[in-house]
Formats: sequence, structure tokens, C-alpha cells
Amino acid sequence: MALRCLCLAVTDEMLQPIIEGLNIQEAIRSKRLFIVDYSVLKDIKTTDNRIVCAPIALLFVNKAKTLMPVAIQLYQDPSEENPVFLPTDPEYTWMLAKMWFNNADGAVHESVAHLGFTHLICETMAVAANRCLSPSHPIFKILAPHFLYVMAINRFAIILKNTTAEISHILCHK
Ligand SMILES: [Fe+2]
Repeated sequence: MALRCLCLAVTDEMLQPIIEGLNIQEAIRSKRLFIVDYSVLKDIKTTDNRIVCAPIALLFVNKAKTLMPVAIQLYQDPSEENPVFLPTDPEYTWMLAKMWFNNADGAVHESVAHLGFTHLICETMAVAANRCLSPSHPIFKILAPHFLYVMAINRFAIILKNTTAEISHILCHK
């Protein structure tokens, strides 16, 4: 079986020696193989022509119950110029693939999970609470302490990121 439907050009033959002799179907069925797809980063605009890849990676739970990366493709569309990197590649090739993946993971985490789904969502709740609830409302009283520094820290975060257009692109991406 190949995972080409997910744009990841990996095959049983490539993975079997790495995932303890299992084929891809068996590994998925036994809930030991997981996929991370950062297609949200595809064609994202960057400042200073910086490069951000949009990787797809497979992670495998080995016999020691450790989640390990087992395949990394740095861009979405499979091609000869976009190979799947494996732990069996030369040490520094595999290390660099993991570093590029981690860079993309960090970008998504900071922009989406951290800034978007904590700070910015909290700001909408703070604004709504202040507009719609009486300061004497019990829900307002419970929430108010949590909103104390939200606006200030978000303003600093937006200035630091200086990428509001890209953030909204990521948050609205389907
Ligand atoms: Fe934060």
C-alpha cells in the first residue's frame, strides 16, 4: 500500500524495515502510525524570501512505546525533487529533514495553536463579555480576571509577529 492519496509518496517497501516489519495498513490498524500534514503552510508568504516547507510526516510508536518520526516529505507534491526522507538516510540528511519539519511544526504551533487558538480566541471572548455582559453578571465576574492582560499581550504578540495577514490566512485555511 502507498499513501499517495495523502500526497505522501511512501510505500510498504520503504517503511517496513523501519516500522518493525509491519506494513502501513497493519501499523495504522494497530494505532501505531500517525500522520502530520502541514499543508496549511503550502505557498505561504514569507518576509525576506524566507523558505518555509509544508511537510508531511509519519510518526510511529515503537516497541519501547516511543513516538518516533519514520518518514518526512518536506513539500506537499511528490516528485523527484521532493523525496521522502527516512531514518535510514545518511545521519545528517535525516537530521536536516527533521530540522526542517520542526521549523514548520514550530511555525504552525506558534501561529495557530498558540497565538490563534489561545490568545486571539480569548480576545474575542473578552470583547464579547465586555460588550454583552453586565459587570455584575456572575459569568463576567468569573471571566474578568482571565481577561486582565489579554489585550495588552495580544498587541505585543501581533507587533512581534508582524504577520497578521498570514495569521488570518492560516486560521481561515480549510
Ligand atoms: Fe502565550
